[in-house]
Amino acid sequence: MKQKLLIALPKGRLLDQSIELMGKAGIVVTPGDGSRLLFIEDRDKLFRFVMLKPVDIPIYVESGVIDAGICGSDILREQDSDVNEPLDLQIGKCALAVAGPADKEVSYRRNIHVATKYPRTAARFFKGKNAHVHIVKLDGSVEIAPLLGLADVIVDLVETGRTLRENGMRVLEEIAPVSAKLIVNRTAMKMKSQQVNNLISQFDRVVYANT
Ligand code: PRP
Repeated sequence: MKQKLLIALPKGRLLDQSIELMGKAGIVVTPGDGSRLLFIEDRDKLFRFVMLKPVDIPIYVESGVIDAGICGSDILREQDSDVNEPLDLQIGKCALAVAGPADKEVSYRRNIHVATKYPRTAARFFKGKNAHVHIVKLDGSVEIAPLLGLADVIVDLVETGRTLRENGMRVLEEIAPVSAKLIVNRTAMKMKSQQVNNLISQFDRVVYANT
């Protein structure tokens, strides 16, 4: 019997949408309440799943110890991950943007400080604008950095815009739209092509029906 595909699901804000999408695709997964189980299976026991921090998913999938996963394009862009991206799942839609205090003009010409969880993406973006910036790498609650004077602007995800609004900030410029992708290890794409192609078409039907 063929070994089941091992698929990484992102913990956090994308998890519910991922599980809902899989359910529509006929892959029913019920993560137990408060369960500490690391591996779970779908109802029909066709796949095995492991829940990981989103930022770790491309590392596991690129290495091949996990066959496939669901991951935001923000993380894939930041990590330059060498994985196949066969499908945009059209969930977790938001934008990566530069934001700053609503009541201040910020000129990229002076040496501004940029707080972000996305140092490489931010560095590339400002380099493209010939702006010399200092990148301050943070791990979360990035919006607080300009309020406390650690940075002039942030590069972060904006979904509803509520976090920015409630903290007196606004989007200065959008860098890229973001959505969740199905990612697949390059070798698994070839060696487990039938299982992978079945998975892709299961998702594809739902994504196509939703658009
Ligand atoms: C993300 C992002 C913003 C917020 C944007 O944070 O970093 O803080 O969501 O959403 P909004 O535009 O709908 O307000 P997340 O909740 O993932 O936590 P984090 O701040 O720890 O990264």
